[in-house]
Amino acid sequence: MSVPSLSDKILAIRKANPANRMARHFDPDYFNGLSAADQARMARIVATGVANTDSSMGAYAMDPSDYNDFAPFFDALIRDFHGITGEISQPHDWDVSTKACDLGAIDGKLKDVSMRVRVARNVASFPLPGAMNRNQRVAFEDEAVLAFEKLIEHPEYGGQYLSITPGSKHEIDSAEYDRRVAAHQMFKDMSNDRFLNVAGISNDWPYGRGMYVSKAQDFLVWVGEEDHLRIMSMQKGGDLNALFGRLHAGLEILSKVLPPFAMSDKYGAVASCPTNLGAGMRASLHMKLPNLTKGGTDLEVVTAAATKYGLAVRGAGGEHSAAGSDGLVDISPSARLGVSEMEIMQRLYDGVAALWALEVAR
Ligand code: ADP
Ligand code: ARG
Ligand code: MG
Repeated sequence: MSVPSLSDKILAIRKANPANRMARHFDPDYFNGLSAADQARMARIVATGVANTDSSMGAYAMDPSDYNDFAPFFDALIRDFHGITGEISQPHDWDVSTKACDLGAIDGKLKDVSMRVRVARNVASFPLPGAMNRNQRVAFEDEAVLAFEKLIEHPEYGGQYLSITPGSKHEIDSAEYDRRVAAHQMFKDMSNDRFLNVAGISNDWPYGRGMYVSKAQDFLVWVGEEDHLRIMSMQKGGDLNALFGRLHAGLEILSKVLPPFAMSDKYGAVASCPTNLGAGMRASLHMKLPNLTKGGTDLEVVTAAATKYGLAVRGAGGEHSAAGSDGLVDISPSARLGVSEMEIMQRLYDGVAALWALEVAR
């Protein structure tokens, strides 16, 4: 019996897993028309969705150039996920002063939620994490540390770099790492993520991985997760304008001291996963919705309601996790591409106001 070709496998996945976007948009004629070298590149890009047939995206770029070199494939995936039919472009607008988004104004009970906003960034001078080797991961971490040494000079952003690279002069022990993960500051052990494993993104774990954290613990930068950098601001309270303002100012400083970011005129910030292109931003609230989640046991009702307002629901431990027992969930606008940073903040505020009205009415 002959071994099924990659195209045959993917066509079978398309039938069995219609939600797998990689399989949905994979065109065997396009694939067969590529050179052998480009077929090998494509095979790496789609490997995660072939091995994990339940993927909703099922592809990761290995290099910023992949989005151009395999444009017919990626463009279809990107349009499907981001719901874009017309021209694609990425506006940038960080002027958060034009609308006050204070959650406390919705309800005093929302004055103390945990807020987080992050952007994904990759530098143009390294392959994306799925294609980096161990030396490159550590070399990139070293470059990031040089940038953090400059960031530290800014009093509001000053802090320390914590590395989990064995032997790094910034290395922390495993107890400190666990504590930071539990505090939702540090990323989880990526070698447990089957999607990232097949894509090569978690290779060489934990080399080249770490986190910068400001003294006030409200500005953080992940190094070596799904993207080279995840830059975020995080704080308790309700003032989204302050949260976004801090991220923007920190990002401006970092952009001047890091190697240039990979940016696309069409897709905005280049990310490993097509879901993160555009603003590269995910702004989330950790909030308790006990009524809409039946005490945290069932996300069906809350997810259906949230979808209407363009919001996604995650569990309290992030993507692919369950809700907290008290109904603690992670709510964030789904849109990343084609919407500005300012619009994302506004969508979070407006969506949460609507969702909160449903919660209190139940
Ligand atoms: P992302 O991919 O956007 O970085 P993940 O879903 O992978 O987000 O979650 C990363 C970590 O961030 C997890 O520990 C998650 O619980 C935490 N997190 C996300 N949003 C918040 C928030 N608003 N407050 C506190 N922690 C958060
Ligand atoms: N690769 C996974 C899938 O296709 C996750 C995609 C979105 N999440 C992410 N962290 N990039 O289902
Ligand atoms: Mg994540």
